[in-house]
Amino acid sequence: MILNPSLPSKRGLANITRDLMMDLSREAEAMPPYNRQTTPDGLVDLTSSLNDLMQNEMQSYILSLNMQPEDYLSFVPPPGSSSLAKAVADFINLNFNPSQNIRPEHIMGANGVSSLLDILSFSVCDPGEAIMLATPNYGMFKHDMQSRNDIRFVDVECDLEDKYFDRFTASNADALVEKYEVAYMKACEDGIRIRAILLCNPCNPLGRCYSRHTLERLAQFCGRRGLHLISDEIYALSAIHPNANGSTRESTMESFTSALSISIEGIDTNMVHVLYGCSKDFGLSALRLGFLITQNVILKESCRRISVPTWVTTFSDRIFTAFLNDRDFHSSYIRQYQIKLSEAHTLTTTFLQEHAIPFSPSNAGLFLWIDLSSSLRYFQGPGNEANGEDASPEMQLTRYLLKQGVYLNPSEREDFALSILKLPIHEIRDLSDL
Ligand SMILES: Cc1ncc(COP(=O)(O)O)c(C=O)c1O
Repeated sequence: MILNPSLPSKRGLANITRDLMMDLSREAEAMPPYNRQTTPDGLVDLTSSLNDLMQNEMQSYILSLNMQPEDYLSFVPPPGSSSLAKAVADFINLNFNPSQNIRPEHIMGANGVSSLLDILSFSVCDPGEAIMLATPNYGMFKHDMQSRNDIRFVDVECDLEDKYFDRFTASNADALVEKYEVAYMKACEDGIRIRAILLCNPCNPLGRCYSRHTLERLAQFCGRRGLHLISDEIYALSAIHPNANGSTRESTMESFTSALSISIEGIDTNMVHVLYGCSKDFGLSALRLGFLITQNVILKESCRRISVPTWVTTFSDRIFTAFLNDRDFHSSYIRQYQIKLSEAHTLTTTFLQEHAIPFSPSNAGLFLWIDLSSSLRYFQGPGNEANGEDASPEMQLTRYLLKQGVYLNPSEREDFALSILKLPIHEIRDLSDL
């Protein structure tokens, strides 16, 4: 019996059941943003990995294209034009060192990697099937892949017994694969069918890249178990120079290797799918453009069939095609960007060191993984109206910080991801005064 016909479907309703993070984001949206001159008491929002380091250069470049309405008022196909696919394929061949030449027909565009995660989830898994994800990971993966699709996640816990287990380094590859094996076997015992593993490389939120050896071992694991390997490489070029914060440990950190570049026996290239987009490395998140790079013709066609709702706009298509085709400009952009990113990283890590805030050393990405667990002791009791009645200590701390004017992403555990680029860090209030 339908009680109230005006209500959304059960699955629609499930998406609006109480979600502390979403509720918190709504509260944050209502607060005036920080501005040094006009609203110095406003909110410093550090939750988004936005890249505004090269905004001036990008704005001048887009203006120099001198686009006219006739350039963007007619349709391109839903996954983008063939010129865009060619430009992306060339770019990937130039920067991702693929083991096989990537061709335009391997590329499918959509309005952002978020949309492609949803599409891939639908096209790789049947209802009830699962994707494996190492923890900690990008907080929106589950949201983006599960909101519309009845799929599950099987967590591969890399932070439970050993908070600082380094899953990226080659020397831990066997230990990491063992964790995947254990989680896989447990899922099988529970009757869960796993279809894929999802990697974020470079990793949001840890800012680290998987070693080639680790990628190979994970790909072999996928080969043995018949799983797809999906690699979100949206931060591929957000590399920080090796000695950006003077730490000796940093020099041992691996630089970026794409899943497209691994080539060893037992790996079926049809099972390797990479996601890339213009939101992060190029600071163009408002263009809403993301790309699936896959050699799996049938999977790509199945994704394409549902790409009308994620239609690429002609405007974005034209801008990004021009940018990618201008090899001199984008190569110089990347060089300058990495220098500025390294400077921002040094500024931030220096700030954290000076204020005795522990963080996980990193060499990629737009964020740092900081550890505020020592402050959790102030939030051990039950929550209250001000900090969330049924909130965990982490959520209470998040809410407390929000009230003080700083908004951070809480993890499922005790650490927080701190986005480093939203504002120059010296303008941020002292977080250690808790
Ligand atoms: C790992 C990762 N994938 C995807 C996205 C979203 O990308 P897009 O703007 O292309 O939807 C983000 C944004 O923060 C991200 O961090």
